Amino acid sequence: MSKKATLLADKSFILSEIDNRIYGAFIEHLGRAVYEGIYEPDHPSADSQGFRRDVLDIVRSLQVPIVRYPGGNFVSGYNWEDGVGPLAERPKVLELAWVSLETNEIGTNEFADWAKKANTEVMMAVNLGTRGIDAARNLVEYCNHPSGSFWSDKRISHGYKEPHRFKTWCLGNEMDGPWQIGQKTAAEYGRLANETAKAMKWVDPSIELVACGSSGSGMQTFAEWEATVLDLTYDNVEYISLHSYYDNKENNTENFLAKSLDMDEFIKSVISICDYVKAKKRSKKQLYLSFDEWNVWYSNNGSAVIDRWQVAPPLYEDVYSLEDALAVGCFLITLMKHAGRVKMACIAQLVNVIAPITTVKGGTVWLQTTFYPYLHAALYGRGTALQPVITSDKYDSKDFTDVPYLEAIAVHNEEGNTVTVFAVNRCLTDSIDFEADLRSFGEIRVIEHIVLEHEDVKAHNTAFDQKRVAPHSGGLATADSGKVYAKLPKHSWNVIRLSIV
Ligand code: AHR
Repeated sequence: MSKKATLLADKSFILSEIDNRIYGAFIEHLGRAVYEGIYEPDHPSADSQGFRRDVLDIVRSLQVPIVRYPGGNFVSGYNWEDGVGPLAERPKVLELAWVSLETNEIGTNEFADWAKKANTEVMMAVNLGTRGIDAARNLVEYCNHPSGSFWSDKRISHGYKEPHRFKTWCLGNEMDGPWQIGQKTAAEYGRLANETAKAMKWVDPSIELVACGSSGSGMQTFAEWEATVLDLTYDNVEYISLHSYYDNKENNTENFLAKSLDMDEFIKSVISICDYVKAKKRSKKQLYLSFDEWNVWYSNNGSAVIDRWQVAPPLYEDVYSLEDALAVGCFLITLMKHAGRVKMACIAQLVNVIAPITTVKGGTVWLQTTFYPYLHAALYGRGTALQPVITSDKYDSKDFTDVPYLEAIAVHNEEGNTVTVFAVNRCLTDSIDFEADLRSFGEIRVIEHIVLEHEDVKAHNTAFDQKRVAPHSGGLATADSGKVYAKLPKHSWNVIRLSIV
């Protein structure tokens, strides 16, 4: 028997304009993300700088608006000066976060070049683990100051006349975590972040800064960490970060697909903390959220199980199934629902490491299941998020009660005169008879109904079977008098694209 669900969205009930940067991504010097991921000079598709053109083409097709770089845990031990200047003089260093050997062949300037080619912005992170104010302000000067000072002239002497003008900067990474090089208490970090923020903005007042929130809502210090850090940094930062990874290691798919409710709760809690600090300070300034690490992550091939000090070892190369893609779809819809406060978000990561894009050394590049919901959201989730009023049959799972089988949202793109409905059917056994009431738009027509489905929810792609789980446009949505009718197959991701007549 089919399940039933409805979505009502009215063009006047606007949640928020979506900041496209919620479809951002992350590339860290970790495993084969940089080396053998975006950069492989011996690859047949390599360009003159050694960047894989086949990977660049795919990243461009995603229209990724912003990419966080260079870490992650990596940044907490990184000396950025090692990665600029003549290649022959760059040191090979022991990289402690991932127990690898870092050759420094790719550094700030090369990554800025790659980002230009990929048509994306850079979200730069500074090291507040082993370093501090001085290295951070010098890096801003090196990257953003036009000329006439020591570090800006150094950049020019390295062949980069024009400043990179990076706008968004992260003040360290996951500084609450015991795994972090230079872990700090909230008070230690808050003081350092604030003083670093001041100096960085004195060099370039146009930049925006992200303070580190907790590395997950499961941290014992969560909430107190945010409150203390924001208390100490509120006036000098624009965003606080959130990180969260989910998995289905317990092999309970119904429970796994409900985990976006945890993400939703996490976001709401951080908003409350931001607003508590705002009230406490009698401030008029609103703080925004940067969910700059999120994804499904199974972590089964980490640095603990491989030889130490390798260059670009194959770390965390998770293979994603259809159920992982559905979870990613639910996370993306959750981010859209919070577009009012979440202004940036990064799928972590983009290539090879916990990623939707996988490369074979010297060979092909293939797309994981999770690539598709990310692609669809990035392409069609631009515009205004509308308040979704949903009725749906529900279920209880191990950790969640009253989970709607339907997760959905509608996005209005005024410029393109379109509305797009994103919908996940979480039900593992039945399709959903779905009806969307979009009558406030008047007459609408279905452009296409894209579906990502497979009989086997555990099905995944490989380098040799790249299209096993791939979307098709054969969904049967119809529109009549402002209403949309569709059957959403069991455990499926759906994108119903509509034009306003
Ligand atoms: O994305 C992988 C790692 O996960 C990042 O380096 C770190 O910030 C997080 O713990």
